[in-house]
Amino acid sequence: MRRFRIEPGGHLQGEVQVPGDKSVSHRAVMFAALASGTTRVTGFLESADCLATLAAFAAMGVAHRREGNALVIDGVGLHGLQAPDAPLDLGNAGTSMRLLSGLMAGQAFDSVLTGDASLSRRPMARVIEPLTRMGADIRGDAAGRAPLHIRGGRPLRGITYRPPVASAQIKSCVLLAGLYADGETRIEEPGVSRDHTERMLAAFGVPLRRGDRRVALQPVERLRAADVAVPADLSSAAFFMVAASIAPDSELRLPGVGINPTRRGVIDILLAMGADIVLGNEREQAGEPVADIRVRSAPLKGIAIGGDQVELAIDEFPAIFIAAACAEGTTRLTGAAELRVKESDRIAVMADGLATLGVDVTVAEDGLTIVGRPQAPSFGGGHVASHADHRIAMAFAIAALRADAAITIDDCDYVDTSFPGFVSVAAAAGLAIRSERAAS
Ligand code: S3P
Repeated sequence: MRRFRIEPGGHLQGEVQVPGDKSVSHRAVMFAALASGTTRVTGFLESADCLATLAAFAAMGVAHRREGNALVIDGVGLHGLQAPDAPLDLGNAGTSMRLLSGLMAGQAFDSVLTGDASLSRRPMARVIEPLTRMGADIRGDAAGRAPLHIRGGRPLRGITYRPPVASAQIKSCVLLAGLYADGETRIEEPGVSRDHTERMLAAFGVPLRRGDRRVALQPVERLRAADVAVPADLSSAAFFMVAASIAPDSELRLPGVGINPTRRGVIDILLAMGADIVLGNEREQAGEPVADIRVRSAPLKGIAIGGDQVELAIDEFPAIFIAAACAEGTTRLTGAAELRVKESDRIAVMADGLATLGVDVTVAEDGLTIVGRPQAPSFGGGHVASHADHRIAMAFAIAALRADAAITIDDCDYVDTSFPGFVSVAAAAGLAIRSERAAS
C-alpha cells in the first residue's frame, strides 16, 4: 500500500496537463466495441477503472491496440460480443459495472459482474430494478449488491423509467439495455445528470429524442464507428483549481479540460466562492465542449450549495470541501445524500479527515457545514484515512498547501483509478508531495 506525505505550504505555477476524462473514456470503449468498424480513441484515460472496462471487452472478444497516442478498438457490432470465460472483474469502477449491467442484459449469453470490496458495497438495486422491469434476469446478493449474475437471451422491452435519483449511471444503463429492447426506451429524471452517453450515442449514429431531463431511444440496427478525442477530466482538474485558489501566489493553466454543462458545477461553485478562474479558447471536441482554464490564487468566501448544483458537481465535493475550509465564513451543503454511496461515504469520510486537521465541521444526513479559516494555516497537520477512495486522497493532499505541518494519507493506491501520475504532476506544479510504501 502507498501513502502520501505532503509537507506544508507551497505555490503552484505553470501548466498542468490533466489526464483524460474517466466517464468519457469508459463510454468510448463501450460504444467503440459495439460499433461496426474501427474507432480511434485519443486522450484515453489509462487508469485502473478504464483499463478494467477495456479488459472486460477484451474478455468478450473485442480486440484493441495502441497506435502512437491512440487506442484503436475494432468494433464487433451490436450482436458480436462473445461469452466471457470468467466473471468480468470491474475493480473499483462503479460506472463500468452499472453501464455494463444494462449492456449484458441484452446479450445472448450469461455473465457475472464482480468488483473490489468498495464496489461490492455500492448499491446496485438502482440498476437491477429498471432492468428487471425491462424483462432482464439480473440478480445481486440479498442486499442488491455485486456480484451481479445476468442471464442472457431474455427479450427486453422498452419502458418509461423515472429513476428516484438523477444518475447518469442509471440513465446510461437503461439506455444501453434499450439498444436491445423492443420499442422505445424513455427516461425522465428528477434532476440533471451528465449527458456523455447521449452525446456519444449521437456521435455513433444513434438518434435520440432529448428534452429537459428526458431522453428517448429507439433500438437501432448498428452503431457507426466514430473517432473520439477524450477531453481532460474536469474532476481531476478540480483538485488543481482548488489548489491554485488556496495556495498564495499561484497561477496554473489547465489546457483542454471538458466543461460539459452537465458537469461544470465545480467551476460555478468556485466562481461563486470568489475564485479567479478564467475559461479561454472554448471549443468542441468529439461532441464535448472543452476549454483552457486559468486559475489564480484568490480569497474565497463560504456559500450555500444545494438543489441542482449537487449533481452538476457530484464528484468534486471532496475538493470543494477543502476550498470551503479555507474560505471566509460558512459553507453549507444540502441535498447531497448521494455522496454517501460513492467510492466511500464522502460526507462521513471528508468530515472525519477535516476534523482531524482541526476544521470546524458539522455533519447532516444529506450534507455538511464547514466553518472556514481564511487566515493560513487553515489546517493542522496530521494523519488522514482515505478509505481507499481516490478523490479523498487527492483532496487532503492539496489541503497541505494551507497546513502548518505535514499531512499523511493512507491507502493511496486507489488514486490510480482516476489519476495515474497524480504525484508527479502535483509535485511538478509545486506541491511538496511524495508517495511512500506503507506497511499494509
Ligand atoms: C458517472 C456518473 C456519476 C459520477 C461517477 C461517474 C458516469 O454517478 O459520480 O463518478 O460516468 O456516468 P451518478 O450518475 O450515479 O451520480
